[in-house]
Amino acid sequence: TDIFLPERENARGWDLACAEHLEEIFAARDPFRDTSFEGGPLLAVDRPAGETAEIRNPAHPDEIVGRVTWASPEDASAALDAAEPWQADAATRAAVLRRAADLYEEHFGELFAILAREAGKTILDAVAELREAVDFLRYYATRIEDLATPPMGRFTCISPWNFPLAIFTGQIAAALAAGNAVLAKPAPQTPLIATRATRLLHEAGVPRAALQLLPGGTETGAALTGDARVNGVAFTGSTATARKIKQAMAEHCDPSAVLIAETGGLNAMIVDSTALPEQAVAALLQSAFQSAGQRCSACRCVYVQEDIAEDFIEMLKGAMDAFRLDDPWHLRSDSGPLIDAEAHRNIADYVAAAEAEGRLLHQIEAPERGHFLAPCLIGVNSISEMEREVFGPVLHVATFKARDIDRVIDAINGTGYGLTFGLHTRIDDRVEHVTDRIEAGNLYVNRNQIGAIVGSQPFGGEGLSGTGPKAGGPFYLPRFAQPHHPPRPQ
Ligand code: NAD
Ligand code: ALA
Repeated sequence: TDIFLPERENARGWDLACAEHLEEIFAARDPFRDTSFEGGPLLAVDRPAGETAEIRNPAHPDEIVGRVTWASPEDASAALDAAEPWQADAATRAAVLRRAADLYEEHFGELFAILAREAGKTILDAVAELREAVDFLRYYATRIEDLATPPMGRFTCISPWNFPLAIFTGQIAAALAAGNAVLAKPAPQTPLIATRATRLLHEAGVPRAALQLLPGGTETGAALTGDARVNGVAFTGSTATARKIKQAMAEHCDPSAVLIAETGGLNAMIVDSTALPEQAVAALLQSAFQSAGQRCSACRCVYVQEDIAEDFIEMLKGAMDAFRLDDPWHLRSDSGPLIDAEAHRNIADYVAAAEAEGRLLHQIEAPERGHFLAPCLIGVNSISEMEREVFGPVLHVATFKARDIDRVIDAINGTGYGLTFGLHTRIDDRVEHVTDRIEAGNLYVNRNQIGAIVGSQPFGGEGLSGTGPKAGGPFYLPRFAQPHHPPRPQ
């Protein structure tokens, strides 16, 4: 039906097996190999310059990618005063967002370079990320016509570092499409790509007062969420931070203020004895280890049916051994590094603890530089042993007996998270049985469980994984507008 597929096309891609496409990417990207990028606040009010910091390449921490000037909580307050909802009519807003999408595509080489050097994105990931950002801009532009009510007012958009272009852009595009004044705070790890993207949005015609950028950390984020002038917050990040933002909003904002939170996951996959093993292994490599496992959607725990477990796990180990960690700039890299030293320390400690308990089943090699962490398998009896989301290339492996499938489903649901889920089976009834019972936002059968496509696979979770309207779907945009206002012409 046209509910999920309004008239649209997804952004162009690049075929990484095609020499001409690769040459096009390299020709556009390589001139930015040594560029020093500048990041900083883009405000609608003059403010004294703040503190600065170097941004380093997570694959080569001795390489400085650029400098950022931070926005302070005082800058946040001044920006809230200067913020003005976007007064243009809906058709104009849509045209400007489409123009921004075109500009993103025109500048793909520069954006790929920043994504690789600042965020450790491989070429494959950078292509997918740009396409998703462009899709969000065009999708919400197309859906503006469905909005019958005015904007909320001032909308704060707080994004994570793991999709520093796609999620950053998606939140902003929806808030702007609805006509809000946006205050965007990107993650402190990735301010350079956010600054470049915001400049492109301004160049496309988004007024400064309708879109201000405030690179900063927790304090700036707190100043942009716990404030009576804020009418809504779109947040993507950890479940713990979402709780803090909800508390701050409850204390400081009007009761009508909206929180849209897209948070973490403890995502599982079930592989039964009828699954096609090559397909399931390939799906697991992508779902657990692509992007160094730094996806909210990534598979964290696979349940393999006991009858095939020994052979299947051997096959998985063999496939892992061919998985290559390298500088994300190079095509040969299947995955880049973790985002920073802190992430590396946390996950390395976790893996070391599992190893000390004799639960490390397999780990491949990683470059001994930068923040690379070698993908590994850790044995568990049940997903319920996992107390938290481990945000890296760590796949937990459990086995199950066919008669216990409902217990497995209960354990997966029992985590309280509900983001993505994968199933590999060739039994139709099992697909129906399992997918009817699993509580997760995005269910994938006989494929990987990452990389939702805007428009056709709206993405978002339930329970501890988020408030639910699903980005890139028809119910997202209305959350950025007033729900009970008499309709008015846009
Ligand atoms: P995080 O929660 O640490 O930070 C996210 C953002 O919140 C950053 O911009 C940060 O500066 C800001 N922030 C931190 N404390 C704040 C506060 N008190 N008030 C306001 N803002 C504050 O998350 P992260 O480490 O950047 O990202 C990884 C997490 O994001 C993982 O848990 C992952 O699962 C989740 N994630 C979810 C989705 C989804 O769509 N469900 C997508 C991507 C990432
Ligand atoms: N939308 C991203 C994915 O599906 C998080 O992997």
